[in-house]
Amino acid sequence: MKYTIRKHMKTSLRNFAPFAVKVTIIAGIVGSEACCNNAPTMMTTTAEILDGKALANRLREELRKEAAELIQKHGRAPGLAVILVGDDPASHVYVRNKKSGCEKMGFSSFSFELPANTSQQHLLGLITELNQDPKVDGILVQLPVPAHINSETILEAIDPGKDVDGFHPYNIGRLIARKPALRSCTPYGCMKLLEETGLDLHGMESVIVGASNIVGRPMAMELLLAGATVTVCHRFTRNLQAHIERADIVVAAAGKQGLIQGEWIKPGAIVIDVGIHRRANGTLTGDVAFDSASKRAGWITPVPGGVGPMTITMLLANTVQAFKTHVGD
Ligand code: GUN
Repeated sequence: MKYTIRKHMKTSLRNFAPFAVKVTIIAGIVGSEACCNNAPTMMTTTAEILDGKALANRLREELRKEAAELIQKHGRAPGLAVILVGDDPASHVYVRNKKSGCEKMGFSSFSFELPANTSQQHLLGLITELNQDPKVDGILVQLPVPAHINSETILEAIDPGKDVDGFHPYNIGRLIARKPALRSCTPYGCMKLLEETGLDLHGMESVIVGASNIVGRPMAMELLLAGATVTVCHRFTRNLQAHIERADIVVAAAGKQGLIQGEWIKPGAIVIDVGIHRRANGTLTGDVAFDSASKRAGWITPVPGGVGPMTITMLLANTVQAFKTHVGD
């Protein structure tokens, strides 16, 4: 019975996404739970998991096939240069994963691990060389960089056509102007996850929590491009709960463990959790209180296994896109 109701609910949501709450309550009234406790309120449900790992594997397999054909056709592999400055342990893990993702795809990977005292001038010199290197299609400088280096200067020095992170003002500007070129990887990955729901995002109330250059701001532009109504919440937002309570889509990218309480989630909403935090017991968790949120949401990303695997996948997709532009495919 529950399964039937959920299917009905999802079908209804597909057609009438902005009325998600209404549809959920109707489903609750007719559901088996409602008939037993006589409570015509929201049904207790379990959200559908948006499995980023499975989606990432699927997309990487498609990309791998496409790359193999391109390599055959053009006689060289897409090349990604990854630059890491300093000893940040988390950055080392991210960079290792990016390099390994790249190699599994059959791409050429160029790795530069520079000491923490590397000068800005030296780093700019390396970027100039890589900008001119025809074997390199993508350049990525892992953030954060040490404090004596100005990250904006560095990101702006990368050739926008090789900016596979999608952080260069040119690429951000293209997204704002509704002509995306290379798109920021995490928001791009979040859009792919949203696509998995099968819902039409036009007119949906979306609330992004966090206004960073890497996630929040480009995410706002992605959702606007997809026709959603967009609110960006940040550290000065007065009543976060009120914004979350009316959201059909929540994108949590505040970097604060458990900031979004499950009880705030609108029944049937889509919840995308970009946060990643390590608990004292070593397990990972996000910005959203998953257990309680998954009882109300229609769809939710897990941590780990949600947004994380999608970020690197979109980096690989951007590298293929940059390669195709460079070879004129
Ligand atoms: N640091 C945290 N996330 C990212 C990312 O997506 N790209 C880069 N270059 N640095 C990061």
